[in-house]
Amino acid sequence: MTLTDAQIRVTEPDFYFYDPHATYKKMREQAPVYWHQEGGFWILTRFADIEQVSKDAESFSVATGVILTDVLKDHDYLSQMFPEGSENFSVLDPPRHGQLRHLLNFAFTRKRINSFEPRIHQLVSECLDGIANGDVVEVVSGLSIPVTASVIKAFIDCDDMTVEQVVEWSDDVFRMGSDISLDELNETVERIKPMFDFFMQKVEQHRKAPQDDFIGRLIESELDNAKLTTMMIEVFLQTVMVAGNETTRNGFSASLRLFADHPNQYELLRKEPELAQSAVEEILRYHNPTIGFLRTAKKDTDVGGQVIAKGERVYLVYGAANRDPTVFPDPDRFDITRFVDNTKTHLTFGRGPHICIGMALARLEMRILLQELVARFTGFELAGEPVRPDTLLGNGYTALPMRFRRTG
Ligand code: HEM
Repeated sequence: MTLTDAQIRVTEPDFYFYDPHATYKKMREQAPVYWHQEGGFWILTRFADIEQVSKDAESFSVATGVILTDVLKDHDYLSQMFPEGSENFSVLDPPRHGQLRHLLNFAFTRKRINSFEPRIHQLVSECLDGIANGDVVEVVSGLSIPVTASVIKAFIDCDDMTVEQVVEWSDDVFRMGSDISLDELNETVERIKPMFDFFMQKVEQHRKAPQDDFIGRLIESELDNAKLTTMMIEVFLQTVMVAGNETTRNGFSASLRLFADHPNQYELLRKEPELAQSAVEEILRYHNPTIGFLRTAKKDTDVGGQVIAKGERVYLVYGAANRDPTVFPDPDRFDITRFVDNTKTHLTFGRGPHICIGMALARLEMRILLQELVARFTGFELAGEPVRPDTLLGNGYTALPMRFRRTG
């Protein structure tokens, strides 16, 4: 049976709410490089094809946008988000991409990331300590948000932001990537103006009273033999805050949901807490907190035996790649021992030049979450209907009520 756009509803958020994996399987097997007639773009579902395109920045560009809404809507999301004079490295191609990304390396060293470990333990503990046996907690607002939003604001040395601001502003930026009307888009742009003002003022304050922190280091950086403008630093702050917020939040919520659905795997983790790092990788593979990103062909390029013509868009569906049986045997099985030998990796953080710069921080946060969970709880289960977000970007929850069972 030929696959049709009506079955492959990748442009509709609710497609992702209910197990899209049966569809991905058919696509990998029957049409791994699928032309989505209605959307006017290719969809890739095989691991090797997605890896090839992600790595090949010579042939595939990010400059015309990486989010699906860019092809679905005629409004220009990018220029609204990133005003003239700003450069956002996540939508720049080499060599410019590398020049800008390089300026952030100081923030992502192993030493700096690990320095957040005590703080993350403390934040997770603060959320979990008060949960008594049998308590029902809405996990997104009671755990995922307070921890991950607090970590990301500390990471960019903006502790004076509130968790609410981090969430509102990041969610609004993410909302711009969802299926909204032009009016809604303009309203959202208005709503995030205070974020611009906040970051711009922070940079100006740092210029007057220099500090050796995230903003201070960027102020001292040079590009094209000149210091960075305030607007350029604002864009760095905004990009890291947004990219590191909802993604990790979804990773947190998915961890609880997956262990509720697979209590035997949670039991195994309780018995062998040293499996935590492998379990994190399996959660990331199985759930993929980010649905997918786009590339645009710069020249005619063969992918999986199909020529992608210059100018055509390609949608990289990470969740489909992560269930490719040629890479992950029995891919629909949630198995926290899958990554113990450390010989393979999933595509959840992308590949190639744009591979997630914050993956070590996300992994650290999720590992600590698992360690703190098994230290306190014998298990947890769904205690109500989960609510999923209406978006084509993040694969997560807006509400996830869970009942916790305490040890002892
Ligand atoms: C579970 C959590 C996370 C997931 C699933 C995730 C996923 C991704 C993916 C798939 C990309 C590649 C995009 C592309 O190729 O177009 C990416 C890029 C990026 N991520 Fe993450 N991310 C996570 C956490 C974080 C964190 C914690 C930070 C910051 C502290 C961060 C910052 C970034 C940035 C700045 C980029 C752009 C990199 C570039 O274009 O060179 N991410 N992320």
